[in-house]
Amino acid sequence: MAKDYSHYFTRPSAQAARKRKTTTTPIIDFEAHINVRHLGVGKKYLIQTYGCQGNEADTENMRGILEQMGFEATTQETEADLIILNTCAIRENAENRVFGEIGRLKQYKKHHPDLILAVAGCMPQDESVVDRLLKNYPYVDIIFGTHNMHQLPYYLETAIHGKERVVEVYSIEGSIIENIPKRRENKIKAWVHIMFGCDEFCTYCIVPYTRGKERSRQPEAILDEVRQLANEGYQEVTLLGQNVNAYGRDFTDKDYTFANLLDDLRGTDMPRVRFMTSHPRDFDQATVDVLAKGGNLMPHIHLPVQSGSNKVLKKMNRKYTVETYLALVDAIYQAIPQASLTTDIIVGFPGETEEDFQATLEMVKRCRFEGAFTFIFSARANTPAANYSDETPMEEKKARLKRLNERINAGYLAGHQRFDGHTVEVLVDGESKHDDTVLAGYTQHNKLVNFKGPKSLIGARVPVNITEAKTWFLKGVYDESAQ
Ligand code: SAH
Ligand code: SF4
Ligand code: F3S
Repeated sequence: MAKDYSHYFTRPSAQAARKRKTTTTPIIDFEAHINVRHLGVGKKYLIQTYGCQGNEADTENMRGILEQMGFEATTQETEADLIILNTCAIRENAENRVFGEIGRLKQYKKHHPDLILAVAGCMPQDESVVDRLLKNYPYVDIIFGTHNMHQLPYYLETAIHGKERVVEVYSIEGSIIENIPKRRENKIKAWVHIMFGCDEFCTYCIVPYTRGKERSRQPEAILDEVRQLANEGYQEVTLLGQNVNAYGRDFTDKDYTFANLLDDLRGTDMPRVRFMTSHPRDFDQATVDVLAKGGNLMPHIHLPVQSGSNKVLKKMNRKYTVETYLALVDAIYQAIPQASLTTDIIVGFPGETEEDFQATLEMVKRCRFEGAFTFIFSARANTPAANYSDETPMEEKKARLKRLNERINAGYLAGHQRFDGHTVEVLVDGESKHDDTVLAGYTQHNKLVNFKGPKSLIGARVPVNITEAKTWFLKGVYDESAQ
């Protein structure tokens, strides 16, 4: 039977998503009304996550909300009563994977007519995606975006009791919802959002449209969360934001920056603090100086460069130059000589010539990157770069990506080789994915280490002597004598 659309129907709008005003951000306390609290009792849920760490953190919130409602987690599609796809819109292939998956999941609706299928996250923030879902996938029950995840209990109530389809996507600047229950996947390492949204508007990027304006959580809320995690025995937090260096810029009542936050986090008992992602334009000397103090602040910085050509950087609206980026890199190495730098690079941006690409290769060498996420430019609806003329054939772009990756891989290997023969601290995550007799964990510089040792070491920070450096990981032996 066709679904009734009358209950909710709020569409996204790219025009509204582009707007930025200087209003203060509302902070809302999450509280699900008591009458929806038991809706999930006896039911099972499954969430698939497609996006960045921010999306993974959102999934942990949705899990928390669902478990508070009585839902139980399952990994079996056949037994799920609720399947949520938490989607990503950053590149076209990410979206295609999700559409393929929605098509595949249709079969489960046949076997289990009460199964609720929901599409959440960044993709529904794009109006063309909502139109496509409405037209071609009528069996999707709930469509909601990034700004209204906290309303999930009410959408479920409508879908389960009212048997109505819910489509609700806001294109607002965004608020901050505190105290959403969280069900963390990992007991050793945790994600902590320090801010939401993005105001950079890089010309290729959809995030400012899907996530709203830049808004920072209050320092005390972050510090309390990190202290609480330390009390629970967590060993590492990663602070999340699309541009963590802009943290605090939106406070109207105080002068408190990312450097201040890092300095305050040094005073907590959390053994390891990481952060991502940094924006080269906003990464200031005060942040470099506080990182140089070390302690629990880890010596790994992910600093997306995107391109090594000033012409391309300008067209990308990155607001820094090769020269200012290099000056920042030099300042980092000067203050933290052993720092490990990684980056993101886009190849085949519209108008990128062979000469521009050569400049990117040169940059990789000059900055001594020890790893990178590399991508071919993907045109995103409603972003300025989608309309730039782009004459480079895809074959050429693929060839550039291959050449770039060869250089990046040399950087991975060099980054590993510098630890060969050294004893390093490894935070043990668990068993190796490929061999359950081997333990796997990460060093302070974020290098993957495989070594033999008792399972009792999982969750601990232990000394490991590195015996072999490979491109993708280090091998070592547990150094009991150094304990
Ligand atoms: N806020 C972060 C990361 C955002 S998305 C930053 O500014 O660095 C992660 C990476 O995806 C980006 O750094 C960029 O390299 C890549 N990316 C974003 N939009 C893209 C697009 N349209 N095509 C290809 N890669 C893209
Ligand atoms: Fe996208 Fe640029 Fe914002 Fe990163 S800083 S999320 S690349 S607009
Ligand atoms: Fe993707 Fe949205 Fe993150 S588009 S990268 S899930 S902010």
